[in-house]
Amino acid sequence: MIPNGTLELTADPGGITQAADLLRQGLLVAFATETVYGLGGDARNSQAVAGIYEAKGRPSFNPLIAHVASADAAQRFVEWSDRAEALSAAFWPGPLTLVLPLRAGHGISPLVTAGLETLAVRVPAHGTARKLLAEFDGPVAAPSANPSGQISPTTADHVRAGLDGRIAAILDDGPCGVGVESTIVGLAGEPALLRPGGVALEQIETVLNARLHHHQPGDLLTAPGQLQSHYAPDAPVRLNARSRQGDEVLLGFGSVDCDLNLSADGDLTQAAANLFSALHKLNETGRPMAVSPIPDHGLGVAINDRLRRAAAPRDT
Ligand code: TXA
Ligand code: MG
Repeated sequence: MIPNGTLELTADPGGITQAADLLRQGLLVAFATETVYGLGGDARNSQAVAGIYEAKGRPSFNPLIAHVASADAAQRFVEWSDRAEALSAAFWPGPLTLVLPLRAGHGISPLVTAGLETLAVRVPAHGTARKLLAEFDGPVAAPSANPSGQISPTTADHVRAGLDGRIAAILDDGPCGVGVESTIVGLAGEPALLRPGGVALEQIETVLNARLHHHQPGDLLTAPGQLQSHYAPDAPVRLNARSRQGDEVLLGFGSVDCDLNLSADGDLTQAAANLFSALHKLNETGRPMAVSPIPDHGLGVAINDRLRRAAAPRDT
């Protein structure tokens, strides 16, 4: 599909310019963000967006996040509100995505929103992502750069392993710092948590001075495409494990005897940053996986959400 294979671009001015040119041509570029690598395409170009779904093998009912350079840029596409202003002022650039009503004349491809009247927007904090968005000067639709249902990528090698030959280029900028995806907050109705992620729920509630509604599993209207089995390693995953059983490899947290530790110090931020690469590494052993209990507060909520999906019964 890609005549000369997937290009490896370095995150210097030349590489960023080349990446922006490829996006302008409607081609796909994977790029580093502070959360995970994104698979970017021009959000106004339906052919490019269709290419994203195709490269990922993603179910088409799962809408995408539009990445923009600033809150001002976001307001060209969505209807703004006091809550959007408060949250963007507190957390952008950063690992927070806001779902807001589309504005008239937005120009976003309906494939990005999967036909919804709302758009998810995010201003990433990562230096290279910001430079790419500034140079491209338009909205970039970017899901995580992994085949649908598989573990999210936090290095360029992860991206290459999943998508080599299916996308035009990878803009390599080392490992991602946060390591779990952005927190998604719905602001089209009552403020709602649609996905826990890199900004802790408690911080968001403090800024809004209100509790967020929580998404109910199966509530397709508020969170389309929150597939239950996701981030799935090949072998079964067992959660809240105190020790190994049978042939298992143990992914630890805190001071435990394990094969790989998310954070020996019990630091949730460090655990989030290590999560997906640890799943990739243990997945390579081909053995079933057990995972230590992770405290369910702060970034632990996002980590446990990803782990539950990794452990969920598989449809396919
Ligand atoms: O950190 C991140 O958010 C990464 C990086 C690349 O920015 N991106 C990411 O995208 O995680 P993705 O496509 O893997 O997840 C997007 C999530 C999906 O669960 C989707 O259902 C939800 O956002 N979403 C997108 N648009 C939505 C909308 N209009 N309403 C509700 N949920 C939406
Ligand atoms: Mg994803």
